[in-house]
Amino acid sequence: MGSRIIGVGMYAPPKILANDDLEKMVDTNDEWIMTRTGIRERHIAGPGVATSDLCLEASLKALSDAGISPSELDIVLVGTCTPDMPVPSTACFLQKKLGAGRAFATDLNSACSGFLYSLSVADALIRAGRGKKALVVGAEILSSITNYKDRGTCILFGDGAGAAVLTDCEDGAGVLSCHLHSDGNLWELIHAPGGGTLHPMDPATGNERTNYLHMAGNETFKHAVTKMAEVCVEALEKNGAKIAEVDLFIPHQANQRIISAVGKRLGIPENRVFVNLERYGNTSAASIPIALAEAKEKGRLKSGDLVLLAAFGAGLTWGSALLRM
Ligand code: UT7
Repeated sequence: MGSRIIGVGMYAPPKILANDDLEKMVDTNDEWIMTRTGIRERHIAGPGVATSDLCLEASLKALSDAGISPSELDIVLVGTCTPDMPVPSTACFLQKKLGAGRAFATDLNSACSGFLYSLSVADALIRAGRGKKALVVGAEILSSITNYKDRGTCILFGDGAGAAVLTDCEDGAGVLSCHLHSDGNLWELIHAPGGGTLHPMDPATGNERTNYLHMAGNETFKHAVTKMAEVCVEALEKNGAKIAEVDLFIPHQANQRIISAVGKRLGIPENRVFVNLERYGNTSAASIPIALAEAKEKGRLKSGDLVLLAAFGAGLTWGSALLRM
């Protein structure tokens, strides 16, 4: 028994923050952002919008694409590092909003690798017979933890959600394998300290904004290239596949230069690498499922295609998955 994706969907809030807007907020310019990152604009959620609201929109589209109703779901997993609240999980809010009463629901916080981690867990649960139908969502409101005075990070991040519906199937089709890795020794490279047990949120002490995301960009960049390339090779070797057989490579959308460097290491032509970060920026856990949904809409996920996914993010965490569509 294995699992396969039968529906995908995405949602990005309507408000757009373009490079021109950022020029008015920090000492930066469109030319620097485009050449160093490839990002032109990102979507930003308005006040009062919760991560589970973005999840809901993406999930409804994925369920409609799959042709199933929320009541048929056994499992709801949300990959996010920007939950609605510390407690309960965003997945439980999503379950309520969807009316997916039969499903068990929880979050996974693996930052930008959140969708791949969730996909891997859902696949393993289905393989173990713990359910037949799973909704796997990657969603973030990164604008809620972005410091719009820090030009090194605020130009990168955007908000959005993507979702995939998985169903059980014969082994050897669908999700062929998933590969996950972490290195907690390097946690400091990307972290948001506030709001946890070490630095609780307490407006009385004036530390309510200690939850800003900090990133050592340059160092992170190098690890992202090496680790994503390595974990892609791991997936190919596990399945006895060659890069030439991969119809579409969907990497985490963090930086065009990272994507190009990984593609070059793997030896995959640019026309088989899916890139949409120009319009969304880095949406962390949402980036791969948003790309999956757009790829399907553009007719780039055809039945029988071999699709390689790879992610990298805070933790550090990284992973890959090889899919037969
Ligand atoms: O999602 C998973 C984890 N995240 C990532 O994978 C992101 C990884 N990192 C990156 O994408 C890149 O490191 C950044 C886009 C964040 C930065 O690009 P970089 O080429 O590594 O730039 P840098 O940090 O080495 O900075 C180069 C220069 C510096 O100026 P000096 O010291 O050379 O005078 C920065 O102060 O660029 C300056 N700079 C900027 N200039 C204009 C940094 N940010 C900006 C900016 N506008 N927004």
